[in-house]
Amino acid sequence: MTVDSLGSGQIAGVDPAFSDQVVAQLEVIEQRLLDAAVARSPFVTEAAQHIINAGGKRFRPLLVVLASLLGGRPAPEDVTRAALVVELTHVASLYHDDVMDEADLRRGAASANQRWDNSIAILVGDLLFSRASTIVADLGVECVRLQAETFARLVQGQIAETRGPQPGDEPLAHYLAVVADKTGSLIATSARFGGMVADLPADQLAALSAYGEEIGVVFQLSDDLIDIASDSSGKTPGTDLRAGVPTLPTLLARRSTRPEDARLVQLLAGPISDEAEVAEALGLLRAHPALDEARTEIARRSEVARAHLAALPDGQAKNALAALCDTVITRSA
Ligand code: IPE
Ligand code: IPE
Ligand code: MG
Ligand code: MG
Repeated sequence: MTVDSLGSGQIAGVDPAFSDQVVAQLEVIEQRLLDAAVARSPFVTEAAQHIINAGGKRFRPLLVVLASLLGGRPAPEDVTRAALVVELTHVASLYHDDVMDEADLRRGAASANQRWDNSIAILVGDLLFSRASTIVADLGVECVRLQAETFARLVQGQIAETRGPQPGDEPLAHYLAVVADKTGSLIATSARFGGMVADLPADQLAALSAYGEEIGVVFQLSDDLIDIASDSSGKTPGTDLRAGVPTLPTLLARRSTRPEDARLVQLLAGPISDEAEVAEALGLLRAHPALDEARTEIARRSEVARAHLAALPDGQAKNALAALCDTVITRSA
């Protein structure tokens, strides 16, 4: 799924010529991402390129490229622009997210807030948002509106997560709504943008949005699982536990009435600041049936995503989009 893993020229389920075409397009996008982060001063350029240079899976650009290949002959420059818009929006949101989450590691590198400070991270995030806006202007008013609406959803998801469930909100439903807004929104738009630059008909654009939204939720649910289950994600495990941010496994575990879960339920009641307690909660969660329950639910939803592809034309691009339904649930980083 990553540019690195695509570097071999292979995408599961598709022929090498198709996958080479996708890789070539992603390489162009890679260079243009760095160009888009160039600013007036070397310092700002360095800070704006920092998280782009640190790597990342480029999942959203990949979706743009694959969706664009469902149609006739999209203009390569428009595909590049659409991919830049979604990845720059994403990277900008990561600069801001790491401030909010007080994260010190991003993509295996120091987060911008850690390397510089919160103000620099926030302002550089703003700069990257502005670059996404400049580029989307060249795609026309429909794309501008969609990007703006997507960004509004993403931000409201982040705000809802920050505030937590309000009286009367069911915690799991609140969490799933947050995930759809903060992550599903931009991934849905990535798939739709690809279809838009390829001039796909309205029913196919709707299918791409529905597929993207669902696989986007699956993507975030997997990511939250990795926060608990993996030590090699390029982020610090247990970040959500420290911040007291609920995730699917912790919400399921907190429902437990088993006496042996009393300690875990107590630990999960709020943010955990003591590192020994974070390690204890991670250990208990890794051995808890809630982890498998979460995996089962994630796999179920990835099949829902796959089913939305039925409305799209058969071919290599559709095969690759279908293969992503497997990759998002088996990834461990
Ligand atoms: C991280 O997104 C934030 C989530 C929405 C889970 P990615 O997992 O796409 O992060 P990168 O771009 O690969 O670093
Ligand atoms: C990030 O959510 C979502 C956005 C950036 C919009 P998280 O806080 O869960 O993501 P990570 O774990 O920091 O990548
Ligand atoms: Mg975060
Ligand atoms: Mg966050």
